[in-house]
Amino acid sequence: MTATAIPRGMPQYDDVPRYDVERVRADFPILAREVNGHRMVYLDSGNTSQKPRVVIDAMREHLERHNGNVSRSVHTVGTEATEAYEGARVKVAAFIGAPTPDEVVFVKNATEAINLVAYGFLSSSLDVAGDPRFRLRPGDEIVISEMEHHSNIVPWQLLCERTGARLRWFRVTDAGRLDLSDLDTLINERTRLVSYALVSNVLGTVNPTSAVTKRAREVGALVLFDGSQAVPQLPVDVTDIDADFLAFTGHKMCGPTGIGVLWGRSELLAALPPFLGGGSMIETVTLERSTFAPAPAKFEAGTPPITEAVGLGAAVDYLSGVGMRAIQWHEKELAAYALDALATVPGLRLFGPRTAVGRVGTLSFDLPGIHPHDVGQVLDSLGVQVRVGHHCARPLCVRYEVPAMTRASFYLYTTFAEVDALVDGLARVRKVFA
Ligand SMILES: Cc1ncc(COP(=O)(O)O)c(C=O)c1O
Repeated sequence: MTATAIPRGMPQYDDVPRYDVERVRADFPILAREVNGHRMVYLDSGNTSQKPRVVIDAMREHLERHNGNVSRSVHTVGTEATEAYEGARVKVAAFIGAPTPDEVVFVKNATEAINLVAYGFLSSSLDVAGDPRFRLRPGDEIVISEMEHHSNIVPWQLLCERTGARLRWFRVTDAGRLDLSDLDTLINERTRLVSYALVSNVLGTVNPTSAVTKRAREVGALVLFDGSQAVPQLPVDVTDIDADFLAFTGHKMCGPTGIGVLWGRSELLAALPPFLGGGSMIETVTLERSTFAPAPAKFEAGTPPITEAVGLGAAVDYLSGVGMRAIQWHEKELAAYALDALATVPGLRLFGPRTAVGRVGTLSFDLPGIHPHDVGQVLDSLGVQVRVGHHCARPLCVRYEVPAMTRASFYLYTTFAEVDALVDGLARVRKVFA
């Protein structure tokens, strides 16, 4: 099947933006490599994405020509580095529809972004003068979901243990959707924060937002969205989704590792206490006490990931050039095609939505009687790279009563032929373990 063919069951709209997948693939040097004597079939983009040459070049060019520290040099390369770093912030802000670049905080990854907010809640709770929006008392509640990545579970568990707040969660339906049936009781007057993924890293589900944010506003709770899987895959606009905070990570969206983003509404970032203390985040320091710079500097202690920010800026330019709607549609077609194809594999149990509606191209499954690690190893011997394990979402595996799953996750450079390679590989797995 070619990349322009429409899989069965997909509507054919005239105004759907499209791109030439082979041309996109040519932008990613690694996609030409072989693995175990086969053309590499990279189906692990939900874990980390591959990087286009423009990102690699932007980082190399920065190091070769503009390397200096930011915000503390008057010399030329220091000024150029600062401009490049702040320029990346402007690009990221535009990419997510942030009203101002000052609402974009560069951090190490999504995990750090979420921990930053959790730590802000903790500090405010320990401080009698802490901002009431972040001050937790015993009996207050934080709502997450059963489909969260550990990075959106563990920080809240730690926070609850330390403050006496209570963690509650949305259940997940058999079909892999958020169960909103008890929305009005789950989110109630005790709820202080609701935090869940816009897109599940295991099920591929695109989660609804408006009903939840509406209810959260009614009870005065804040809302944090984990956009780690959403921002790379579909257009995300912080105003459209009515978020208070959005966390995401650069390496899943064609950018490098070592850089992530916390976006927060200006007035909340102004009220949130700092996370790490050190250079660059202060207004003034005496031996007795310090005062802090406004956001985002307040949250960027020490020398930040400058080259990585430049890489992320280049990634955002690249994704915008291809078009996020086009990427979303490409993934939808791949998902529809893969759902049909995987349905032909005898015994395969798919977790998550069975239609391409309200999902991305992330498909997790189990072949009963064959351990996912064995599945992964046989696929690897054929050049097919998938992830196996609990995908840092162990509660979801418990929910579906499996110790582990195999996950194939697609991206803008994935082809229908690669989906076929996965399905052929699964036939080989079944033969080996027959
Ligand atoms: C939904 C989700 N949230 C958070 C993370 C954490 O990302 P990072 O490890 O880059 O902090 C991931 C990574 O897999 C994810 O898929």
